[in-house]
Amino acid sequence: MARTALLASLIQRPRRMRRTGALRTLVREARVDPSRFVAPLFVRTGRGVREPIASLPGQMRFSPDELVREAGRLRDLGIPAVLLFGVPDRKDPEAREAYAEDGIVQSAIRLLKRSAPSLAVMTDVCLCAYTDHGHCGVVRGDEIDNDATLELLARTAVSHASAGADVVAPSAMMDGQVGAIRAALDDAGLPDAAIMAYAAKYASGFYGPFRDASGSTPQFGDRRSYQMDPPNVREALREIALDVEQGADIVMVKPALSYLDVIRAARETTALPLAAYWVSGEYAMVKAAVAQGWLDERRAVMEILSAIRRAGADIVITYAAADVAQWLREERA
Ligand code: PBG
Repeated sequence: MARTALLASLIQRPRRMRRTGALRTLVREARVDPSRFVAPLFVRTGRGVREPIASLPGQMRFSPDELVREAGRLRDLGIPAVLLFGVPDRKDPEAREAYAEDGIVQSAIRLLKRSAPSLAVMTDVCLCAYTDHGHCGVVRGDEIDNDATLELLARTAVSHASAGADVVAPSAMMDGQVGAIRAALDDAGLPDAAIMAYAAKYASGFYGPFRDASGSTPQFGDRRSYQMDPPNVREALREIALDVEQGADIVMVKPALSYLDVIRAARETTALPLAAYWVSGEYAMVKAAVAQGWLDERRAVMEILSAIRRAGADIVITYAAADVAQWLREERA
């Protein structure tokens, strides 16, 4: 009798709103939606080339003509933006290809802007894929020269924005890079080019597949003297504050999955749009487990993307962008 009375008075039943798909949709707090995605794309020279990247299953290095086709597909799937990474033919100590007028990224931007003008074009601004030593800046002895690097990053950003990039995204983790780029863009008469700052970018072990994809593995040492130390979160807030002061339009936390607490902390301290990058190694882990039959790809990917959105990211940079957009379309059909 006492037990029945207890059950009868169980007024709070959270399961009520989990009963059907429609009810769950209605009360869902964090939504995964392709309109929040940025798709990373690798561009290389050639024609008609789609070169699979072994360590990033499903991702390709595209020649510019194929890049245009892929970008059109992404746009048609409702993805508003792409983030371009160049895979240059030539490398040298000064990263000349990074800021060459007719460099691979600059040419790709012009093509994209002509063929898919409604797509936002973002570009990674860094030197590591263009230097023969593979570091993100100018090397002096065995150090990376911060201030000498700023000039090259600024030149690279201006060359991208002149070619038509909507957003440049400095990822070298040099002090003052956002301010240097903002000043250079303004001087070049490009006040409308926006900056997405890789503000809190950690020295992560999860960039391995990306470095393989873009040929940007450092030939000596590592990136720990410029990228952030993984255990730090207050330092991330300092980095974000500095980038906001220097004129960032979007701030980013990277990687995303291993740094959800950093995304949350960033969300609570800035009113700017916040991006999070679910990086190559974090993505490849899922793909590898799926290939073994150990994980269900859709469930794992949707759960991770939900977590990144729930942590507070507005924008999610993800290699799964096209797949997820396709799945959601199939579910609606
Ligand atoms: C360039 C850059 C890297 C990534 C984005 N921009 C590599 C690095 O810093 O070593 C990593 C992206 C990913 O792993 O998906 N500096």
